[in-house]
Amino acid sequence: MFSSKMLKYSIFVLVLVFSWLNVMAETNVDLGQKVTSLEEQCGFFCFSPLNFLLRFLSSWEEKMIHTEHPPTSCRAFGYSSEIHVIHVPGLHPFAVPCDSQMAGPGWTVVMRKIDCCTDSFSKNWSEYKQGFGEINGTFFIGLEKLHLMTEASPQELYLYANESGKEFFGKWFDFRLGNEDDGFNLKSITHLNGTIYDYFQGQVNVTFSTYDRENYVDEYYRPAYVNHGGWWYSQSNTDSPTRLYYYREFVQMMIRDQT
Ligand SMILES: *[C@@H]1O[C@H](CO)[C@@H](O)[C@H](O)[C@H]1NC(C)=O
Ligand SMILES: *[C@@H]1O[C@H](CO)[C@@H](O)[C@H](O)[C@H]1NC(C)=O
Ligand SMILES: *[C@@H]1O[C@H](CO)[C@@H](O)[C@H](O)[C@H]1NC(C)=O
Ligand SMILES: *[C@@H]1O[C@H](CO)[C@@H](O)[C@H](O)[C@H]1NC(C)=O
Ligand SMILES: *[C@@H]1O[C@H](CO)[C@@H](O)[C@H](O)[C@H]1NC(C)=O
Repeated sequence: MFSSKMLKYSIFVLVLVFSWLNVMAETNVDLGQKVTSLEEQCGFFCFSPLNFLLRFLSSWEEKMIHTEHPPTSCRAFGYSSEIHVIHVPGLHPFAVPCDSQMAGPGWTVVMRKIDCCTDSFSKNWSEYKQGFGEINGTFFIGLEKLHLMTEASPQELYLYANESGKEFFGKWFDFRLGNEDDGFNLKSITHLNGTIYDYFQGQVNVTFSTYDRENYVDEYYRPAYVNHGGWWYSQSNTDSPTRLYYYREFVQMMIRDQT
């Protein structure tokens, strides 16, 4: 008697769960969200074993779907030029603009300047470390993120500038940054080709400079201060794409996992 009652109840529960999962699969709605919205409407249901089962399933689903294969870069989004959330090891998930129009699919935009003659890159060390600006406009992603993104996977780098309608680009590969203890130094970078000036030449192991932390060797010349922008300045290069240009309408730097 008792066991047949239990059996009926179990079958009832299973049928409910499977029809629920079907609805999930069709509508592609987050299971956790559904359970939460159901809880808001329910009374007795909230304390039933069914609810515990659904809670368990939803946490399991979250583990399987959301953390097992998380997109670690824009590579995963292919031909998209939208803003997406990525999960870089060592960081909380964060939103980045992806770009597939400038140089093929899968690029992550890490720096963009579309405000031309505004002094928007004259920022201090902690601002460059954290990142600044609006990701849908003029912004820098931040050195900490760049360091961990380049640690996670070897990166190629693309730089684009538009000067009074003339377009320039450059491509590099093996882009890798050290951590803050190493001054976010350039661990490696190799020029491939392009029409833009090579802002990375001879700069392997050169640390980052900002106006409040000039790491350039000559104490009488302060490139980050003079240029109104932070960069990896060295004796072989004191110029940067973050510099205040009065004739550059558009500058964009992007990285992509090397295949
Ligand atoms: C860096 O700039 C930010 C924003 O202006 C400011 O809040 C912060 O105190 C500055 N940090 C240092 C170390 O100067
Ligand atoms: C970026 O988004 C903010 C907030 O949604 C908006 O105010 C701003 O105009 C946007 N900027 C650009 C360049 O689209
Ligand atoms: C480059 O500048 C020209 C002239 O201002 C403009 O027509 C073109 O759309 C720009 N290209 C990009 C990618 O911004
Ligand atoms: C730069 O190199 C890439 C890869 O070899 C090639 O596809 C591209 O056409 C080159 N661009 C120029 C301007 O040489
Ligand atoms: C690279 O830079 C680090 C930190 O500034 C320094 O300790 C190290 O000696 C440098 N290595 C080379 C090969 O220059």
